Amino acid sequence: MSSNKGRVYAVTGAASGIGRATVERLVADGAMVVAVDLTEEGLRWTDTVDGVVAVAGDVTTEATNEAMVSAAEEHFGALHGVFLNAGVAGFGAIDRAPMSMFDKVMDVNVRAVALGMRAALPALRKVSGGAIVVTGSTSGIGADPGLWTYNASKAAVINLAKAVALDVAHEGIRVNAVCPGPTKTGMTEPMRNRSDVDQTMRNIVPMARWGESSELAAAVSFLLSPDASFITGVALPVDGGVTATTGQFPNVAARTR
Ligand SMILES: NC(=O)c1ccc[n+]([C@@H]2O[C@H](COP(=O)([O-])OP(=O)(O)OC[C@H]3O[C@@H](n4cnc5c(N)ncnc54)[C@H](O)[C@@H]3O)[C@@H](O)[C@H]2O)c1
Repeated sequence: MSSNKGRVYAVTGAASGIGRATVERLVADGAMVVAVDLTEEGLRWTDTVDGVVAVAGDVTTEATNEAMVSAAEEHFGALHGVFLNAGVAGFGAIDRAPMSMFDKVMDVNVRAVALGMRAALPALRKVSGGAIVVTGSTSGIGADPGLWTYNASKAAVINLAKAVALDVAHEGIRVNAVCPGPTKTGMTEPMRNRSDVDQTMRNIVPMARWGESSELAAAVSFLLSPDASFITGVALPVDGGVTATTGQFPNVAARTR
């Protein structure tokens, strides 16, 4: 039996990709979930799922984060953990892309996560084993060409998680980051649809494939659960080995397959 059974979680970015897969995984674990995303339409898939309440709103506002916590306490009586996962990408050269792109990416990927933590902590203090997981990225551990805003935002959110982990450790609340490598979601669809990019990715990833959202959800479910009771301040790569390599050599195993 999963140690998430009977616990209550909130997940942002729940309309698709890693967020949706995590809601599905937590429900399968026997948890109750508040699913948050920008629009009611995006969350319509939750209508037929027992134990899920949808909150439509923009996570860059305090109001949405407060509504997320209130929904958990009002519908399910408590909040044991949050997965602050909503994120956006931004591409473009540093001297040509508009600074509005930087502001937007930092707003969603970093500031909104801080808002989510601030909103959730009072509720997490009321329960035993409160946990926060944020979505970092392998792109917050290393850097990628053309992704300076995204790289900066994901490095920031990883260290945000570590810093807050230290601040609340004495209260028994844990804070961790999960760091996806290339994962099959809406965000990466344009890359996967280009055969040259798709092949390059398979050559770079030691396991020679894209990750599945469900594989991220499994790691998040563990980090949120009491099974991870002594794990805090960790940035866990779920990346098929990407961060294990220097990147200096192509993936020979993939090439000879
Ligand atoms: N897919 C990958 O390869 C990959 C790799 C590393 C990290 N990530 C991270 O994983 C997280 C989830 O992304 P995904 O890959 O599942 O992509 P996705 O585009 O499928 O999901 C992101 C979700 O976040 C929501 N969202 C964006 N801005 C929001 C806002 N202001 N308020 C509320 N919701 C908002 C979107 O509507 C969308 O449903 C992101 O933080 C992303 O940066 C993804």
